Amino acid sequence: MSQDSNSTKQRTYAPSQEFASQANATADLYTQAEEQGEEFWANQARDLLSWSTPFNSVLDWSNPPFAKWFEDGKLNAAYNAVDRHVEAGNGDRVALHFEGEPGDSKSYTYSELKDEVSKAANAMESLGVSKGDRVAVYMPMIAEAVITMLACARIGAIHSVVFGGFSADALRSRIDDGEAKLVVTADGSYRRGKPTQLKPAVDEALSKGGKSVKHVLVVKRNGSDVPFENGRDVWWHEALEAASTEHTPSEQGAEDPLFILYTSGTTGKPKGILHTTGGYLTQAAYTHKNVFDLKPETDVYWCTADVGWVTGHTYIAYGPLLNGATQVIYEGTPDSPHRGRFWEIVQKYGVTILYTSPTAIRTMMKWGEEIPAEFDLSSLRLLGTVGEAINPEAWTWFRKYIGAEKCPIVDTWWQTETGAIMISPLPGVTETKPGSAQIPLPGIAVDVVDDAGTSLPNETDGFLVVRKPWPSMLRTIWGDDDRFVNTYWAQFGDKYFAGDGAKRDADGDVWILGRVDDVMNVSGHRLSTPEIESALVSHPSVAEAAVVGAADETTGQAVFAFVILSDHATTEARDETELSEEIRAHVGKEISPIAKPKKVLIVPELPKTRSGKIMRRLLKDVAEDRPVGDVSTLADQTVMQQIVDSLGTK
Ligand code: PRX
Repeated sequence: MSQDSNSTKQRTYAPSQEFASQANATADLYTQAEEQGEEFWANQARDLLSWSTPFNSVLDWSNPPFAKWFEDGKLNAAYNAVDRHVEAGNGDRVALHFEGEPGDSKSYTYSELKDEVSKAANAMESLGVSKGDRVAVYMPMIAEAVITMLACARIGAIHSVVFGGFSADALRSRIDDGEAKLVVTADGSYRRGKPTQLKPAVDEALSKGGKSVKHVLVVKRNGSDVPFENGRDVWWHEALEAASTEHTPSEQGAEDPLFILYTSGTTGKPKGILHTTGGYLTQAAYTHKNVFDLKPETDVYWCTADVGWVTGHTYIAYGPLLNGATQVIYEGTPDSPHRGRFWEIVQKYGVTILYTSPTAIRTMMKWGEEIPAEFDLSSLRLLGTVGEAINPEAWTWFRKYIGAEKCPIVDTWWQTETGAIMISPLPGVTETKPGSAQIPLPGIAVDVVDDAGTSLPNETDGFLVVRKPWPSMLRTIWGDDDRFVNTYWAQFGDKYFAGDGAKRDADGDVWILGRVDDVMNVSGHRLSTPEIESALVSHPSVAEAAVVGAADETTGQAVFAFVILSDHATTEARDETELSEEIRAHVGKEISPIAKPKKVLIVPELPKTRSGKIMRRLLKDVAEDRPVGDVSTLADQTVMQQIVDSLGTK
């Protein structure tokens, strides 16, 4: 079944006969996509979704890069994710198994989900939300987060989910950029066994901005004592209790916005990635069905992402529900109350499909295979990873200790901007290769090009681009068409540039080489270099800062910050360790704990070229503990030596 290729080639794993014979995807899909062109996507859109008004137009690419897919069709996302399964007689199937961190749990059938989503939609409408309004969602991983997203979609309101780990300031800037009318949040959540609070961050954000916000809808999750502003704040349970379970979904045009999701870019200002309805849902359903081989009657699917990231949008809130799946959502961390928590959940619900991140796998690897061995994982039949490259060691460990050497693994490459999976093996079809996302999905055209945009032969490093429009592509950056064009389409003209380096190996399989821009990837989270640098210099003791992403065994990359202290900080002669810690905490507060540098190194100078550009490459050498590279273009060639010497004495 699996084969050892010759010694110069990497070991690959052929699909088992058993899996292949039942797989949703077949090799034909590639030929069909090739032969049918755009019609391939039209067929997926018709087969996988219910349209209240069928479309005639498939793709309008007359004004690139502004694509329109299925433009004259109409549909509703929530109807497709929920109601139609009830209408088809599957109302008693579980849609969501919610597992709280403290161990409380609650399951919702599709009928119950329909009632909850309808009540939430009615409650939001009575708070003045209507089609086209923006709703900021700042929530823990609880069922109400998914219900809120679907309720927005039901009304035609545009949700803008802000990761619950982001700071009040990050929340404020996202609320203001999208001019949200409503914020949906919770009193708090549980994190590593302790109750935490979320609502105070909303209050702080709204005290500094958020003039567009009329109401805050608050889910009571942990009962903690949070401030409440009468007139503005409304309890979720009270609003829903008063609301009807009858709600007519609004008819949305295929190109009506579905959501905005902010992601880090190469400047300090996050980009509001805009996704629309018909094309996004088509590719969400198509990829979820074929890449995860979903069998809605029998599978129990679990994606461990948070709804604050795109993975939680496409592969929790939309893809699985569109396909009528039963899925698990989990509120907490993998080590609470013990390090076997993930495996306990797999065992409890009989999870069959598990989609997680390489960082989570590497962490579990460090904890040791004895931990998963204590649980019954025999229900698992397919594993997936996303967010960063997976090193072959972690891939092999995942296959062996979690997948019992039988589960296919899909390493899926995509981005907030692409909306859905673009490159991945097809389970049951592709012979998998640890460490490589391998081949574009049927219907997707990617290429590896040089800096002039010319396609490169195999075994050559280059830039990853997408050559043809795809249904779930971002439509623009909210409120900033120019930035959309300049960020993604200026470099290679008619090709979308993803920001990643890549190469194809001798077999033509794609290997993602990481970001080639000022974006770092820490535990699969995208962090912007300039955003962290501006947070650093907003600390009163920091005069200048430069940040690099250094290779890290567990998190893929780790943030290393090099800072020059301001005059008063140096003259005050504070304890450097204490000050570094204070600066780290400051970044955590300004952006999010995930953006906290692993190390803050206080240095006398930063390496700059004559034109004043910081040469981060040299700092990366220091962070990765390598000999420092070529310093000949520095204005002062002794700077790197000064840095190394200063760190050596600490
Ligand atoms: O660098 C790539 C990396 O994550 C980036 C996208 O981040 P984000 O928009 O936050 O979306 C993450 C979840 C889809 C990409 O530009 N990335 C994502 N998946 C992979 C990956 N790198 C290597 N292999 C992957 N499978």
